[in-house]
Amino acid sequence: MTKPHRTTASADLVLAWYDRHHRDLPWRVSPPMAARGERADPYRVWLSEVMLQQTTVQAVKSYFALFTSRWPTVADLAAADTEDVMKSWAGLGYYARARNLKKCAEAVAFGHGGVFPDTEEGLKALPGIGDYTAAAIAAIAFNRKSAVLDGNVERVISRLHAVETPLPAAKPDMRALVAAMTPEDRPGDFAQAMMDLGATICTPRRPACALCPLNAACRVLGREDPELYPRKAAKKEKPVRLGAAFVAEDETGAVFLRKRGESGLLGGMTEVPGSAWTARTDGESGPAAAPFAADWQACGTVIHVFTHFELRLAVYRSKVLRNAATDGGWWQPKETLDGEALPTVMKKAIRQAIPDAFEKARKA
Ligand code: ADE
Repeated sequence: MTKPHRTTASADLVLAWYDRHHRDLPWRVSPPMAARGERADPYRVWLSEVMLQQTTVQAVKSYFALFTSRWPTVADLAAADTEDVMKSWAGLGYYARARNLKKCAEAVAFGHGGVFPDTEEGLKALPGIGDYTAAAIAAIAFNRKSAVLDGNVERVISRLHAVETPLPAAKPDMRALVAAMTPEDRPGDFAQAMMDLGATICTPRRPACALCPLNAACRVLGREDPELYPRKAAKKEKPVRLGAAFVAEDETGAVFLRKRGESGLLGGMTEVPGSAWTARTDGESGPAAAPFAADWQACGTVIHVFTHFELRLAVYRSKVLRNAATDGGWWQPKETLDGEALPTVMKKAIRQAIPDAFEKARKA
């Protein structure tokens, strides 16, 4: 493993950079306020960290604003209707996170008197909180000296030390390097500084090395292309699955929806009826899979990339009389489609069939 070097001096440089160039984020206490002893609200830190898993800061901001205005405290979220939480989460993806979010809020509100545990171990015992999230909350909300390693920090640390081991095998080494660099003083600011550095300076493409507070110590700079780090194990190509989605409109323009089963991918979310998603190409995903007989018209294919496969969804549309046999679902007026717990892939399918389906809500 690469030996850590000049760690304390490096942390000082990173913190000095953060004092001047930190991002103002709605869940964050700025460095001058933190210096005066103000700590971030653990509820807001936890909520932001769960939302930020696999999602960018930009995409998260409006969801964070919505959640914190509807449910300003962990007790409010614990008391919320799960269906409302799922609807508010729709579009953020990885819906198991939303279900765990609700369970975690309940555990904190009812099992811990509404107070988040202030150690990594205590946090990790809660639903949906893994190593990364526990370390991040412990550092940011409780100023614990935990080693926080997310994708941005992996990039910074792998370049700083020219870590040759590819990800994900390199994670333990990288965590040790971050731990050695994390200061006693201001560990929470340090964690956020490393994330900001990775997000704004040490970017995946064309990093701004001239502006980096760590450029003098960086083992990659000037020796090799920084973009080659972090090294990554060769990616396997994603398998393709095929499916069909059926968008039925009634005589009033309402769309037929149903609820997915609670378990599995997109569990508990809303969908238009469809076939199973299969790797087979022999017709199972064609119009024969329609939920009820109608004059189904093919109207194109949408592609959606999930973590483990790429989905190609053939979309069909039809006008259907409302009182025809359409069990197991409901008719949703277009004006209120936007408030449904529709994952992005379902919104894509509906838009493919009815291009202005979501316009109505905005105009209503
Ligand atoms: N990405 C994930 N968590 C973050 C945080 N607390 N600050 C900035 N970027 C982040």
